Amino acid sequence: MEILVLHDKFELWEMARFNLEGKFHGKVHWVTNYVQAVDHLLEDNAVQLILCQEGIDGTKLLKYLLSVEGKIPYILVLGQGKAASGSQAFPDLVKLGEVTSFKELGEIVDLIERSIESGAIEDRQSDDSFCRIKTELLLKVIPLEADVYIRLSQIKYVKMFRKGRVFGQEDLDKYQGRKKIDYFYLKMEEVAGFIGQFQEKITAMVLTEKGSRFERAITAAAITEVVSELHSQLGFSPEVQKIAKAAVDMTVQSVGKDPQLKEIYSMIRDQAGSYFSFHSIATAHVACALAAKLEWPSESTFYKLSLAAFFHDIHLRGGMLSEIDTLEELQQKSATLSNEDVETFKGHPLAAATMIRNMKEVPPDVDLIVSQHHERPDGTGFPKGLTGHHIAPLAALFIVAHDLVKFTTFAEPEKAGFNQFVRQFRYTKDHTVGTFRKALMAVEFPVDGK
Ligand SMILES: [Fe+2]
Ligand SMILES: [Fe+2]
Repeated sequence: MEILVLHDKFELWEMARFNLEGKFHGKVHWVTNYVQAVDHLLEDNAVQLILCQEGIDGTKLLKYLLSVEGKIPYILVLGQGKAASGSQAFPDLVKLGEVTSFKELGEIVDLIERSIESGAIEDRQSDDSFCRIKTELLLKVIPLEADVYIRLSQIKYVKMFRKGRVFGQEDLDKYQGRKKIDYFYLKMEEVAGFIGQFQEKITAMVLTEKGSRFERAITAAAITEVVSELHSQLGFSPEVQKIAKAAVDMTVQSVGKDPQLKEIYSMIRDQAGSYFSFHSIATAHVACALAAKLEWPSESTFYKLSLAAFFHDIHLRGGMLSEIDTLEELQQKSATLSNEDVETFKGHPLAAATMIRNMKEVPPDVDLIVSQHHERPDGTGFPKGLTGHHIAPLAALFIVAHDLVKFTTFAEPEKAGFNQFVRQFRYTKDHTVGTFRKALMAVEFPVDGK
């Protein structure tokens, strides 16, 4: 169930999320003012319940709800110490009840449960009951033991294929080529079967070493998206971990013993799909190419860098957050982001590092690379604001590679050139020390630059 909360105390979000998402298998979006609330409603038509704080912004939101079709039920959250008014200021809206404070989560949960039972809240499937899979990945798992859906709107899914239907090249051409359907959807309860089948196929692909370097890179890129999706909905289960590791092995295979960056980079850029998946796989290739130039061409270094590239943004779920790199950019885009997005972004390096530390058989340093991937040599990065001297060598190399991928994606290096790269990412002389300096000297644009 999707719940929108309008309340000025964002610090209560974690507690609410823990209780309500756990209880109702949904998503809690938290906004602190009227403008953010309306923005969210305009962009997401799946909200099924609103928890609205009494006050000026709350009244504006309720007035706004009067003007839209399809009334979303709401619960009024009074201020601490205020008596329940029982009033019905907006008789045309569906008010489920009043609670005295947001801290009374037990009361809120009871109210929601009663409202579902009485039918006042429509218990429809939300987006979280489905898992999005890239069309060409689905093709690798045929015949599939699950029904396959397409999405018509945020809450409407239509079944396209029944269990066991062989989904073939012809279907891919028809749906991806002509109808431009890049993703299909599986019901979450059937995803386990898909994961099992998928993991076997991917592991077999790694073992047989079939396919070109390029094909391996593209498959690994597509798997990045699926793993991010599965991780956000199911957690990092052992099966999802196996898929992730197979994708990393595939990435290392596609890099090879001696990285051929120029050959492969443009092809990945043209075909990897989303920026999220492209930038993960491209960062792996660029980082390995830089490592080779710095004369660290060992397979274990390539493996560490590829693992870090695969996992570093896994918590960002493939959205526009993965295009943001600095706190400054985060601030510039804050008007379009929810508080939840901002917190997710700020926490993602440490969240990914913790996840990696909990995985079995991961070599040392990978968690460090991931936790430091948004630090900057001049100390303006996060989460710790380390300066160049204090950033680990492999993390420094990774940061330069990550910047280079961003630069070649957005700045057209064909026109921009190396000096602009140095200026844009503030590689100032005083701070660009140690590995930062060496990596910068080794930079070669993977596409032709000046
Ligand atoms: Fe990234
Ligand atoms: Fe990141």
